[in-house]
Parts: sequence; C-alpha cells; structure tokens
Amino acid sequence: MVSRVIPVDPFDLVIFGGTGDLARRKILPALYRRYRDGQMPEEARIIGAARSELDADGYRAEIRAAFKEFLRAEECDDQVDAFLERLDYLPIDAMGEGGWPELKTKMRDGVTQAFYFSVGPSLFGALAERLHTNGIARSDARIVVEKPFGRDLGSAKALNATLAQHFDETQIYRIDHYLGKETVQNLMAIRFGNVLFEPLWNAQYVDHVQITVAEGVGVGGRGAYYDKSGAMRDMVQNHLMQLLCLTAMEPPNKFEPDAVRDEKLKVIRALQPVAPADIVRGQYNGNDGPSYVEDAETPDSRTESYIAMKLEIANWRWNGTPFYLRTGKRMKARKSEIVVTFKDTPHSIFDEDAGQRANILSIRLQPDEGIDLSVTIKEPGPGGMRLVDVPLDMTFAEALGPDAENVPDAYERLIMDVIRGNQTLFMRGDEVEAAWAWTDPIIEGWTERRDKPAGYDAGSSGPEEALMLMHRDGRRWRDLT
Ligand code: BG6
Repeated sequence: MVSRVIPVDPFDLVIFGGTGDLARRKILPALYRRYRDGQMPEEARIIGAARSELDADGYRAEIRAAFKEFLRAEECDDQVDAFLERLDYLPIDAMGEGGWPELKTKMRDGVTQAFYFSVGPSLFGALAERLHTNGIARSDARIVVEKPFGRDLGSAKALNATLAQHFDETQIYRIDHYLGKETVQNLMAIRFGNVLFEPLWNAQYVDHVQITVAEGVGVGGRGAYYDKSGAMRDMVQNHLMQLLCLTAMEPPNKFEPDAVRDEKLKVIRALQPVAPADIVRGQYNGNDGPSYVEDAETPDSRTESYIAMKLEIANWRWNGTPFYLRTGKRMKARKSEIVVTFKDTPHSIFDEDAGQRANILSIRLQPDEGIDLSVTIKEPGPGGMRLVDVPLDMTFAEALGPDAENVPDAYERLIMDVIRGNQTLFMRGDEVEAAWAWTDPIIEGWTERRDKPAGYDAGSSGPEEALMLMHRDGRRWRDLT
C-alpha cells in the first residue's frame, strides 16, 4: 500500500516557546518528518520565537541537537540540513515590546499564516494582543493553543474570552493530541465506515465500555505542574473525554469540523454527575523508585496519579450502559485502549459449559496499534460442540505492511491540519467549557471532603478499590499486559 502525500500550501509558522520542551520534543520533529515525506513545501518557513538571545544559526544548532535526542537515528539523514534551512529565529518576550516589529517584517504575504502558542496559558492573552496591535496576524491567521486549557470552567471561559478578543473561533486550534492519534481517527472510520458495528453500538447490545490510558512513567521531572493538576485535570477532562466522545457520539452527518464537534458536545452534556462511590483515586507508592509524593516533592499531597470512574450517559442510545474510565501513572504497562464488551446472546443454544463468551471489540491506541474483535467459534476437532474465542486481529503492522510501521505521530497530522485549515480534530471552545462544567463539581466534591487517594504499588494495575469498582458490578478490568 502506498501512502499518498499531498503537499500543503506554503506557510509561515511562528512557534512561540520555540526553544521549549514541546517544540524540541514534538513540534519540530513532527514538522521535520512531514518535510522529509514531501508534505511540507520548500517555501514553508518556521520561525522560532522565545526569550533566549539566539540568532537563526544558534537556533538551528539547538534544534539539530534536539533531533539527535528525539528522532530515530535513521531519520536524521541529509534532509536535516535542508529542513533546518527553513528555520529562522527571533528573540521575543511575550510580555514585552521587543521583537514584534521584526516579526512583522518577516511575515510574508500570500502564504498561510499560523502562530503556535507553545507557552503557558498565562501568556495566551499577551501574545494574542501583541499579534493584533502590531498588525502581524491577518484575519485568516490561525493560532494553535495547547493544554492545559484552563484548570476549571471559570479559567477556561476567561481564556476563551481573551482569545476571542482578537481571533474568531474559526481561527483557533485547541490541540488535544489524542485526537491526532491514528487509531483514534480509526475509531471514527470503523464506526461510520462500516455497516457492521453501528446497529449494535447501543445499550441494547453493549454491556459496557472500558477506556484505559495506563502509563508506565511517573511524574518525575514535572511534579510541580502535575501536583496542581492530577489525573483528572491532566488526562480525564481532555484526552479520556475525547475518547469517550468519539466512542459514544451519534454519527455526524458529515466528517466536517462543526458536525463532528456538535455531536461530541452532546455527549459531554449528557454525562451524568458522578457519585463519590463511582470514583477511585490513587497515588503510587515507590517500589523500585520514588513514590508519587517524592516525585511531586510534596509530602502531604492529596493529588491523584490514578483515577478510575464509572460514567453514565443519559440518552436513548446509552441508557443503562456504563462507561468505565481509568488512567494512571507508574502502572504495570503502557497501554491505551477502548474496549467495547457486547452482551451475551439473548439465548444460548449450547450447553452451559460449552464455553460461549461475549464478543469484545478492542481498539488499541498504544502500543501495537490495531483493532481486535473476539468472536466465538467451534473448537476445531472431534469431541462435541466446544466453543472457543478467537481474535479477528487487525494489527496495523500486519494489515498495512511497511506503512503501518511509520504510523505518524499525532503532532504530524495535527500541525498539517492547521496549515490546511481543517478544525475537525481540534476542540471547540464550547466543548472545552462543557468538559470543565462536568469536571468541576467532581473535583470540588473530593476537595471539600478532603478525600485522600488510595495507595497503589508502582508497577501494579492500580488500587484495589478500583478493582472493586468493577467487581461489584460483576465485571472486571482488562489486563494491562
Ligand atoms: C499529556 C499529559 O497531555 O499526555 C501527560 O500531560 C501524559 O501527563 C501524556 O503523559 C500522554 O500522552 P501519550 O501520547 O504519551 O499517551
């Protein structure tokens, strides 16, 4: 299978926070890969902007070093020099006045204009205003903003209002990198590109859905940020919420930005408040490494590094079908998946001990991206009707050959979508606000009650209490290995 690479139009992309971790680790490697693949045209230009007093050559040297660290060795070929030629740099202080007139003179007419705010949200307002007052951003310019987009409904609304002073909603690209993951997009392809699943995709046939994002890493190195955030703000309000929306939403009438986002918004609005008994928060104990409180350098921290919860969606399609979500750091394995467990057949014609089981559809996000449907068949051979589950496995690496090994990083897809002007995989302002409106009372509840997270061993599957959350419903979490 040969992948089609359609070059995007020439662009000027300014990365504020151009020397920061995200730019070095994700944004510039993603752009390089798109360049190497022929998608980024020669006329494209990337301007790093940050406070460091560098010149263009100094910046190129920094990015060359970052590539050595974050790209695979075989990717760092003779294209690196050609790519670095597309880079420029300007020292700019978001809160100051220096550098802005120079930036204006660097921007070209007739090419797509995009500004990536790879900085903390406290600088969004200053950047938006200076781009405007210095006459730099055109009315068709795009701005890209990263999470955290607020830490509650009030702050998210304030951020939206700040950006709205200078930019129209159609110009704002709020990144949730989970939406750029290949399998997440595949979830929509599977649901809406096949007739097979959609008739069964409802409370009548689905017993429950599990969404897991388990990470092996801890919070070491970013404990200060994380301790103010916790798994709920860092992962559930955004990444898991997006996975939930794509799993639960109604078919949009077109694969277009507002049609898709309208349907996602309806799911968030239909989420029921979550009772305290349906939430388990955890904090990892050090086993072979530092514990959460050591990583966070806060001995009495009550922030959760793990959360599991049972959600209900109050609408016709999902009434009575629970969605179980869990995410955590320092878990047994890195594993992210969406698993739909179907109900048993209404009546079994086979003996009780024949071994009939429910069908399970699992959509693996990482690692080993792919889709797997378990079906029941007869165990081969003589000896009566014994049943066995076999996977219909669509591991991308096998199905798609070499193309699948080069599954693009989420940022590659998303940045190209910004340049193409396609907002489908970006969050709209009202969607982010609705997610916070659902999240806030849950966080307020445990803050008021001064709930303490349950301990769990680093390298385990999470706290015992989370296992109970499932067991009491007669269900169990999928194994993390
Ligand atoms: C980020 C979170 O948004 O997503 C991190 O802030 C988390 O805490 C990361 O580790 C996970 O992303 P991925 O793509 O590695 O699953």
